[in-house]
Amino acid sequence: MNILALETSCDETSAAVVSNGSNVKSVVISSQIKIHSKFFGVVPELASRAHIENINPVVRRALYDADIKFGDFHKKIDAVAFTIGPGLAGSLLVGAVAAKSIASVYEKPLIPVNHIEGHLYSSFIENKAIKPPFLSVVISGGHTELIIVEDFGKYKILGETRDDAAGEAFDKAAKMLKLSYPGGPVIDLMAEKGDPQAVQFTRPYLKGSWDFSFSGIKTALLNYIKSNPVKIEKQLNDICASFRQAIVETITFKTFEAAKRFDLKQITLGGGVSANSLLRKTFKKMGKANKIKIFMPSLTYCCDNAAMIGCVAYLKQKKCGLEYKTSELKSNPSLSLSNW
Ligand code: KG4
Ligand code: ZN
Repeated sequence: MNILALETSCDETSAAVVSNGSNVKSVVISSQIKIHSKFFGVVPELASRAHIENINPVVRRALYDADIKFGDFHKKIDAVAFTIGPGLAGSLLVGAVAAKSIASVYEKPLIPVNHIEGHLYSSFIENKAIKPPFLSVVISGGHTELIIVEDFGKYKILGETRDDAAGEAFDKAAKMLKLSYPGGPVIDLMAEKGDPQAVQFTRPYLKGSWDFSFSGIKTALLNYIKSNPVKIEKQLNDICASFRQAIVETITFKTFEAAKRFDLKQITLGGGVSANSLLRKTFKKMGKANKIKIFMPSLTYCCDNAAMIGCVAYLKQKKCGLEYKTSELKSNPSLSLSNW
């Protein structure tokens, strides 16, 4: 089954053609980083305008790369999937309108996909061996969620962030350190050259809860900057390494504790922060030590992309079919994870 999938929940306009959930025939990702970087964050109005400009060329390119001419669309594409939420209202609408128009013109079924599920299943694209039950940690700019996947579309949410998401903490830290946006990649790069023990940030383990909280580390960083104004520039690599270490240790500790507590032998990672080099290394090392299989998407599929949406759409239609009510096809910026 070939699915044309669209993803426009935040600041990436993406389209992909995915066959049977894991064979990515094409994936095109148009990033808006240049537009938003001067504001140190995504400006919703600018994001939706950029999606409007980008969506047609991105879809055209994804079809071209998959060797599908518009004239062959009817024969070669079986369904159209799109991100229904959560995300920025205007950005979501652009993807929804585009998907609905294409589906209506070519009389194809529409499959709505939750963006969090996109990240949750992103490691499936390259790892067909994963079978539920497994533990999943979704760590992005908007989410930090620890989820037991009992079956496809059947979830038990163990913990969520009480304040900042992990990626948001990296982005805000980079802003405080006058680095660039998005903060995660630049902090990751600088951290490679620094000493992770140089600054001792407390690890917010929140004992007795599976929730996360990263605003404390962020405030500790702000206080450190204020009380050491002269040292900061010379110490940037060390500060980045210490900050990254605190976040990675917290996520790793809580995830492996949960895997042990619920006796889960597979962990999947997803979301932009799963591109973090220390996090990837630490999960692999801990997985080996604890005999837990670790599955993570390759770097292309960590951040927002439409291939992961096509992957979920395939799994979802296998279980739920292709008929969705009009109410289920309405964009929802604050959509949460729910069972199918
Ligand atoms: O999944 P994503 O593309 O968008 C959301 O759904 O939010 O994630 C973007 C987030 C940003 O906060 C960015 O700073 C973070 O992922 N990120 C990283 C790295 N690469 C991207 N965080 C830490 N280390 C990285 N290498
Ligand atoms: Zn995302």
